[in-house]
Amino acid sequence: MSDRLYIFDTTLRDGEQVPGCQLNTVEKIEVAKALQELGVDVIEAGFPISSPGDFESVVEISKAVTWPTITALTRAVQKDIDVAAESLKYAKKGRIHTGIGTSDFHIYHKLNSNPDAIIERGVEAVKYAKKYVEDVEFYAEDAGRTDNEYLARVIEAVIKAGATVVNIPDTTGYTLPHEFGAKIKYLVDNVPNIHKAIISTHCHNDLGMATANTISGILNGARQAEVTINGIGERAGNTSLEEVVMTLKTHYKTLGIETGVNTKKIYGTSRLVSTLMNMPVQPNKAVVGRNAFAHSSGIHQDGVLKNRENYEIMDPVEVGINESAILLTARSGRAALKHRLELLGFELDKEKLDEVYEEFLKLADKKKDIRDDDIALLVGDATRKEHR
Ligand code: KIV
Ligand code: ZN
Repeated sequence: MSDRLYIFDTTLRDGEQVPGCQLNTVEKIEVAKALQELGVDVIEAGFPISSPGDFESVVEISKAVTWPTITALTRAVQKDIDVAAESLKYAKKGRIHTGIGTSDFHIYHKLNSNPDAIIERGVEAVKYAKKYVEDVEFYAEDAGRTDNEYLARVIEAVIKAGATVVNIPDTTGYTLPHEFGAKIKYLVDNVPNIHKAIISTHCHNDLGMATANTISGILNGARQAEVTINGIGERAGNTSLEEVVMTLKTHYKTLGIETGVNTKKIYGTSRLVSTLMNMPVQPNKAVVGRNAFAHSSGIHQDGVLKNRENYEIMDPVEVGINESAILLTARSGRAALKHRLELLGFELDKEKLDEVYEEFLKLADKKKDIRDDDIALLVGDATRKEHR
């Protein structure tokens, strides 16, 4: 099995479905170009049948982007596929992403259908899409809650119909990591033609397990991961690109799986998406949150100043953040204060440092945000006292 994981970014489709996150075409092109620079393999540009604006965006992104594959979403409906194919006509590499619900919930309570009829509709959709493009991805919506034996039948049938990628979404974010991994392994072991398609993961974060489920799927044979920048998406969001990419990079020695992402562009892309979509990133968000590389307790600060790796498993520079932050708070120790003083150009002997530190603690108990000006004032006060 290949050790290259394809990154399929759906920020502009699943991510953009979030209320308040809508972008106009110009903004979408800006994000698509940033995703290209970041090095993603596939950009899901929209769901063209859903609105004229979505259609136009897929057309314009197809023109603007040169090398990633551009994909358009459809239901297993001929009209959707016709419109998607039309929207992709300028794509250098175009893919139609079609599919249907396969869980009992979807079959009986959404589609009012039965399992055999669903397989037939999936197969027909893939064959129909193949008339337009060679690259057709099939999604089995709610695969997370679909019986494995039935799912294997669906997947075998759509691969025989020509699907090049088979997407196994945990649409409702229901599965546990070992369960999702076992589902992928079941397909690897029980779908005779599975070697003819790439298995894709598409996990949602309702229980906060989207990244863990995605990684578990990859460890069991998936070689495409569907992700969004900052993990934005329906409800609690999708799997976040930065978490999957940095997990694989951080564990490369043991897992041996790599992506084509230029990780140094991660932070910039995260800021761009957050700003354009007006969607703040939570401060403790893994990899890109404001606090992801900030240290505030005295013990940690001392450890990081002695050797960054004592408390950091990633180099911030690798994700495009210049340096770790040593925050000055009431929990900070002398080491952190000394470090900041040195950055400000103050070299204090031990006695003076102790004196400034005592005053610093009094101030930090009253004030959350200690600025460089405050530090300079404390040094000034101590110096004046000395000369009195
Ligand atoms: O979550 C999901 O199942 C989806 C599909 C349409 C791929 O977004
Ligand atoms: Zn989704």
